[in-house]
Amino acid sequence: MKETGSATAVGAAMLKAAHQLVDGDDKLLTDPVILKLLGPETEEYIRDFNYHFFSGASMALRTHVLLRSRYTEDCLAEAYQNGVRQLLFLGAGLETFAYRQPDWAHNINIIEADHPASQADKLERLNNAGITLPENLSFVTTDFEADDLFNVFRASKLNLDEPVFTACLGVLIYLTRDTADKIFRFLGGLPAGSEFVFTASQNRDNAWATTAAERSAAAGEPWITYFEPEELLKQLKDCGFSKASFLTTEETEKLYFEGTKVRLPLPARMSIVRAVI
Ligand SMILES: C[S@@+](CC[C@H](N)C(=O)[O-])C[C@H]1O[C@@H](n2cnc3c(N)ncnc32)[C@H](O)[C@@H]1O
Repeated sequence: MKETGSATAVGAAMLKAAHQLVDGDDKLLTDPVILKLLGPETEEYIRDFNYHFFSGASMALRTHVLLRSRYTEDCLAEAYQNGVRQLLFLGAGLETFAYRQPDWAHNINIIEADHPASQADKLERLNNAGITLPENLSFVTTDFEADDLFNVFRASKLNLDEPVFTACLGVLIYLTRDTADKIFRFLGGLPAGSEFVFTASQNRDNAWATTAAERSAAAGEPWITYFEPEELLKQLKDCGFSKASFLTTEETEKLYFEGTKVRLPLPARMSIVRAVI
């Protein structure tokens, strides 16, 4: 990770920001805060060079980044109905849920965990944008590769004796396989009712994935860890999750595209997993 923080976190934020500006009224995710975090110059750039965002690769990646957040927020709302009151973002990047949270979420203990450099960049952006930190939010710095997650979170405001909804979006691909396994074991040991929504990429050759992987590597954050779906679902069960499944393309279409004028393409393959203890 660079001293200036994660470039891919800013890249994901750019795609979310572009969605607010170039994709029309029907949105996969409505996120006014992301534009504030990126600042007026970025907004101007997106408006002036909006054609950059209409390549096949950019649109496919935009669907992926928006969908993972939207699905997470919908699963969180369900988990809230079932009594879950803790939300943990692992590798939060420029995640904005806490700063635009609906009224019901004010009862949730929200924790954003990230690499120190990325978190410092985010805090500076929040400060520059004049965004007030909500009272139910706290921050944890950690290097997932190096740290013992149990020790890190035992020392945080997370109550490890109560269910936790964890989101880990666009992160595992940058970590070693051992570190991903460590995360599965840690989260699989949380109390019943806990949930985990995350992205697990399959290594497939296609134009947009190749472009995105090349850009990421050039930014110093290469894609290194991929998963095979069947093997991953079995591993999650072995780690303590009672149910685990990928969000399918059919479900995605039904939930988020049918009857809308969303202009983005459907995802070509499954990459978002929901696991429940
Ligand atoms: C592509 S960004 C995703 C950000 C956000 N979850 C989203 O969906 O936009 C990857 C995130 O993983 C974090 N990350 C990568 N390696 C890490 C590590 N070893 N320890 C902690 N965080 C890490 C980065 O700091 C960054 O915030």
